[in-house]
Amino acid sequence: MPINTALVIGSGTMGQGIAQVAATAGLTTHVFDANAAQLPKAQAAVEKSLAKLAEKGKLTESVAAAAKSNLKMQSSLDAIDLARCDVVIEAIYENFEAKTGLYKQVQSRLRPDAILASNTSSISITKLAAATDRPDRFIGMHFFNPVPLMTLVEVIRGHQTSNDTVEAIDALARRFGKNPLRCNDMPGFVSNRVLMPMINEAAFALMESVADATTIDEIMKQGCNFPMGPLTLADFIGVDVCLNILEVLHRDLGDPKFRPCPLLRKLVDAGHMGRKSGRGFHVYEK
Ligand code: 3HC
Repeated sequence: MPINTALVIGSGTMGQGIAQVAATAGLTTHVFDANAAQLPKAQAAVEKSLAKLAEKGKLTESVAAAAKSNLKMQSSLDAIDLARCDVVIEAIYENFEAKTGLYKQVQSRLRPDAILASNTSSISITKLAAATDRPDRFIGMHFFNPVPLMTLVEVIRGHQTSNDTVEAIDALARRFGKNPLRCNDMPGFVSNRVLMPMINEAAFALMESVADATTIDEIMKQGCNFPMGPLTLADFIGVDVCLNILEVLHRDLGDPKFRPCPLLRKLVDAGHMGRKSGRGFHVYEK
């Protein structure tokens, strides 16, 4: 099945980035967000990113202009011809009921051959799939922030995902200019199962006064050649998001090694969520 039209659900940081790479790849890209006030912000963020990429010569001006015209921001599902959408990529906040509630709203209006993909970072693909009318055409398509710059898409196969679905999403990720790597559905998949314990351990090191936050980050940047230290990365991802993923890993794998550091919880309780709230492990200029 050729994929020409996409619906991206959610216009937060990840939804914006996913919509941008889909539109840049030439797909007619609908972006749905029930919060109408969010859509102009998403449009502005995508336009800023496209302009930056064009300025750096990573995109031609004409591709950037075409991408802009391929994007259709919508605050009502009724405004979208869902029967024309070949793929739906859901990128809303991490809540099982909210995600499956949206799938129920769209699935009866999609063609039976359309694929449903979720950008979830921690919810079971198998469980999400089982709540839809198409568990064989449901898949995890996990992008990385900032989506326009990061090359990986983690493609997660649920228990019932068909080979055809995996192949189609692999091919789609390549059209987006990404490198798809496949894994099976287990808590945290590969990326967050490996990344989050490192961030957690950096938080424990800070809590136990091994070094201050800047020193911990610099040691990992200069010593391991990471582009960002683990605490800066936690602020970039969102301290609340990191805590949530660690809670899922701890609960679903039942292994004490994933116990979230109390300092993560304390920062979240204080409202220090990282870059988005102006403060996390580090303080950011407004
Ligand atoms: N679009 C276009 N350009 C962008 C951009 C975007 N969305 N975001 C940043 N840029 C540009 C910047 O404006 C900057 O341009 P300039 O050189 O003209 O100033 C350029 O990219 C480089 O940015 P910086 O100089 O600020 O910094 P870096 O060279 O360090 O690159 C980075 C930025 C790519 C974010 C790099 O720091 C990095 O790779 N960090 C790690 C990111 C990471 O690990 N992401 C994964 C998080 S985990 C995740 O997403 C999964 C989830 O489930 C938790």
